Amino acid sequence: MSQTAPKKYHPIQVTLHWLIVLLVFAAFIIGKFMSGQPNDSAKLMPLALHMGIGSLTLLALVVRLIARMKLPVPAHASTGSALLDWAGKAAHATLYLLVFLIATSGIMLSMQAGLAPIVFGSAGTLPADFYDFTARVLHGVIAPALALLTLLHIGAALYHQLILKDHLFARMWYGK
Ligand code: HEM
Repeated sequence: MSQTAPKKYHPIQVTLHWLIVLLVFAAFIIGKFMSGQPNDSAKLMPLALHMGIGSLTLLALVVRLIARMKLPVPAHASTGSALLDWAGKAAHATLYLLVFLIATSGIMLSMQAGLAPIVFGSAGTLPADFYDFTARVLHGVIAPALALLTLLHIGAALYHQLILKDHLFARMWYGK
């Protein structure tokens, strides 16, 4: 099958990219808000939202990876520097990995602490301290790493758009 690389991402990829951005931002903000709250009944609602959004993020990520394998992808946007191009590819792979790890560590934590019946079924009370579970430590270490890499990703996209002026954002949006 001979196929030339498209100039932009498929609308399905564009939708999944921006959906994941929204979900990760929402999960992050709710996660940070919750982590300063005591583990009482007032935490059940934000926890339910956070766990639901976080699990949906994992689903969207898996669908996006499958779509990436099935749909044609544009060539990596070059900066003119082999080193920066390599760093860009490494950063994209690491972003996928960190989103995968933060969601799976959250699910591990939920399983270790038996959260699903407490949060979604009002059965029992929350554990006194989530840090009694190893997955909570992992979740809390991955969160700032993901935040930092996301900032770098946004910076790199702005560098393409504003300095290199290569219309990078058009590749990750709808239309011709
Ligand atoms: C995109 C996915 C996710 C992101 C970005 C995310 C982000 C966060 C952040 C930023 C925190 C606070 C970390 C800290 O201050 O140390 C947190 C805490 C937490 N997250 Fe997630 N999370 C995600 C997925 C999940 C999932 C899928 C679950 C469970 C099914 C989950 C369960 C929890 C729990 C139980 C806490 C502890 C809250 C506390 O300490 O009071 N997270 N998360």
